[in-house]
Amino acid sequence: MTDSYTATRARMPELEQRIAADPGRFRVLTGERPTGALHLGHYFGTIRERVRLQARGVETYVILADYQVIADRDTSANVADNVHNAVLDYLAAGLDPDRTTIFAHSAVPALNQLLLPFLSLVTEAELHRNPTVKAEHAASGRALSGLLLTYPVHQAADILFCKGNLVPVGKDNLPHVELTRAVARRFNERYGMTFPEPEAFVTDAPEIPGLDGRKMSKSYGNAISLSMTEDETARVIRRTRTDSDRAITYEPDRRPGVAGLLSTAALCTGSTPEAVAAEVGDQGSGALKQFTTDAVNAFLAEHRARRAELAADRSIAARVLREGNRRANVLADTTLSEVRERMGMAYSDQ
Ligand code: TRP
Repeated sequence: MTDSYTATRARMPELEQRIAADPGRFRVLTGERPTGALHLGHYFGTIRERVRLQARGVETYVILADYQVIADRDTSANVADNVHNAVLDYLAAGLDPDRTTIFAHSAVPALNQLLLPFLSLVTEAELHRNPTVKAEHAASGRALSGLLLTYPVHQAADILFCKGNLVPVGKDNLPHVELTRAVARRFNERYGMTFPEPEAFVTDAPEIPGLDGRKMSKSYGNAISLSMTEDETARVIRRTRTDSDRAITYEPDRRPGVAGLLSTAALCTGSTPEAVAAEVGDQGSGALKQFTTDAVNAFLAEHRARRAELAADRSIAARVLREGNRRANVLADTTLSEVRERMGMAYSDQ
């Protein structure tokens, strides 16, 4: 996985150039599973990148992968709320619903139907080898569900239903983009040229450290949600485990909590962890926490104000999602018809 990450990173400058030269040739499909509030890790990892690609004129589709939520847990509670809140964050961050299609994959039946022919193109052994599925299975502490085992193929349907050819993802999703390329290639070989082989697009900051230095994740309790109030932000930052050494230094291995705070403050002020450490100097972790709180709250102030405005009228986000789902369905229906045609299963036209 690390090797393919390094190789993908190495291709980025050239890919960036191709995007700049001809943004119209690209269609971005990316998204996340609506398991909870979006946090700074999402913001720096992908959301900011989507806004940037949108600004360059690349057509963008953002999927809320609600079926993926139940791949490794036994409840779908709060999914609708999480979807609604994600739409609010996207809009507040600058995604423009006229240019960017935001939708939920459960609302697009033809997308899901693509899963069946796609499953025929992969082997069970291949599915079991996927390193991210293995890691997620281990983390879940549960028996491997059929959906968890096959979700990378579902993700191929997410990407290929709209013939997306550029997929901004974090490091852990690279194996899924690789699998999507294999699915596209095998389908094309078997039934004729139908799908592009999408390229992964990875950013500088694919994994943002959380407050404790581990990857920022809601399930670790180390995340700062975009939607938190200033006081809530102060409270989670105060809870970070640090140490009593007054001299603040950036040493991720030895001082993960301090390093997590430094990285967060650095991202929010456009600085480096080392420079923030030098600035806080020997004032201790209390001062570092105050510095980080101020940095995060200043950085998110505008986002939060816009978000609150949008949240005041629930129908705004609801309308954006309805229109996104409608557009996604038009595309998915077209692609599924083409797929069935290629496979000799287009009975309605015969
Ligand atoms: N698996 C992604 C995540 O872990 C979410 C996702 C679902 C996705 N479908 C996608 C990402 C298609 C990129 C493209 O958050």
